[in-house]
Amino acid sequence: PSILVINGPNLNLLGSREPAVYGTATLDDVVRLASDTARERGCTTTAMQSNHEGEIIDAIHAARSTSDGIVINAGAFTHTSIAIRDALAGVELPVVEVHISNVHRREEFRHHSFLSAVADAVIVGAGIDGYRLAVDHLAARLTAGGA
Ligand code: DQA
Repeated sequence: PSILVINGPNLNLLGSREPAVYGTATLDDVVRLASDTARERGCTTTAMQSNHEGEIIDAIHAARSTSDGIVINAGAFTHTSIAIRDALAGVELPVVEVHISNVHRREEFRHHSFLSAVADAVIVGAGIDGYRLAVDHLAARLTAGGA
């Protein structure tokens, strides 16, 4: 099974962006963590990052023919994008939503996610370990005998 890992706007700056909130690991570290975790479960990953809503939607659509599940940290689009939600709902793949920070402990405008209602699981506040948890969970679901 193959898992698409999507990172949205500003996550290319991981490592230097607000390290007190997001830590010092880079996007490369995240991508490596996801792929190592998938491999342990006999899965593969493809990773994409984009600062553009439409590119994320295109990647979700393309996943219909290339991937078996999606891990997504849509960054601030989480709180604004009905279009990304509709794309996730439309492709009918299992989805795990990840946020590095605990969005519920932050500003009010981060408390609502348009994506959570179409996600199978949501992991917030675990730092970049959230990607490991998300991939591990999804991979377990996608492989025989998985959760
Ligand atoms: C984030 C939380 C969002 O509110 C924020 O806009 C981000 C990152 C997180 O991973 O904690 O860009 O998705």
